[in-house]
Amino acid sequence: MTPDPDRFLADLHALRRFGAQGRGVVRPAYSEPDIAARRWLADRMEEAGLTPHVDPVGNLFGLAEGPSLLLGSHSDSQPEGGWLDGALGVIAALEVARAARAAGGPAVSVVSFQDEEGRFGVTTGSNVWAGGLPLAEADKLTDSAGTSFAEARARMAGMVTGDFIPPERFTGFIEMHIEQGPVLDDAGEAVGVVSNIVGIRDMRVTFEGQHNHAGTTPMAVRRDAFQGLCAFSERLNARLADVVTPQTVWTIGHVSLYPNASSIVPGRATFSMQWRDGEAARLARMEEIIRDTAQAVAGERGLTLSYGPMLGLEPVQMDARLQSALTEAAEALAPGRWRHIQSGALHDATNVSARLPAAMLFVPSINGISHNFDEDTAEADLVAGVKVLAEAVARLG
Ligand code: GLV
Ligand code: MN
Ligand code: MN
Repeated sequence: MTPDPDRFLADLHALRRFGAQGRGVVRPAYSEPDIAARRWLADRMEEAGLTPHVDPVGNLFGLAEGPSLLLGSHSDSQPEGGWLDGALGVIAALEVARAARAAGGPAVSVVSFQDEEGRFGVTTGSNVWAGGLPLAEADKLTDSAGTSFAEARARMAGMVTGDFIPPERFTGFIEMHIEQGPVLDDAGEAVGVVSNIVGIRDMRVTFEGQHNHAGTTPMAVRRDAFQGLCAFSERLNARLADVVTPQTVWTIGHVSLYPNASSIVPGRATFSMQWRDGEAARLARMEEIIRDTAQAVAGERGLTLSYGPMLGLEPVQMDARLQSALTEAAEALAPGRWRHIQSGALHDATNVSARLPAAMLFVPSINGISHNFDEDTAEADLVAGVKVLAEAVARLG
């Protein structure tokens, strides 16, 4: 089975044009460029002899006949996304499906899951598909502008070709992806075979005080929600230090202030609180500390505290048999230049692993930059990755 590097790179650059901004892409789930990219991908799948299928949430499959291995990732992006995050896994899947077909097998299907980047939830499309999140619950999720998942997916209704594809149709799932961190690049290695994917918790938190005149309200009587958020963040860092490992991460990445004006003491601060770790017990302990710290700060500053729904995914191990196929392929094609690696980024493979044997293959990210327009990977590493993927698929077939 021989993937064609030129065809693979040409398609990767063609997908990059949808929502292109500078070196990166702006292609959030259900935006015009995202939907246009899915139409383009469906045409490429059809050309490759696969049957395109769009399910009710906009997950796009290119189906081979009969039982098949499923390869893919996602083609939506962060609000400021890199050109490879997700796109690489989808186009690598397409190339391997074409190469497999030309070689007379094995059967390979392709998927681009929808809203992996969490405009609404956490890897929403694959979570609904795999049965981890009921569609009725997903429909109630809102993005940071207040649009609901139900409203957003209605924008793709004209493309839907049928119901959810039963996961049992597939024999396993492999997702190729950029590492999005510095480990492989720093070590000068070509390939990472993912051993496990960390778990995540994500919820909105709101401190509510009183908005008031910024010139006349004495500091001593203010109930300033932004000052509450600052105090919370600083105290949380100190308190978490006792329970975390160097791999544990937590992030306040989205903040909205009300009324958000220079001359008004902020009366409300709503922010995202996200944390990730490889162990479920540590995620739970962190949650206790987060809630306890928020409660203490709110009490001291005369703020009320409320929480949005808690979203999350559990830490998962990758399938041993699929990992073996990937390690054998990596050792054959990049001897001594690969390693087992934990994924600190989330992936659709987490959800898929609840229903199918699932595994992942990483290629290096230059300087470990991702979720950024500057995200990139050397062409030689992109091509090496797709060859390792094809070799692993051939060994499994
Ligand atoms: C997905 O891109 C994540 O946030 O890890
Ligand atoms: Mn991704
Ligand atoms: Mn991402």
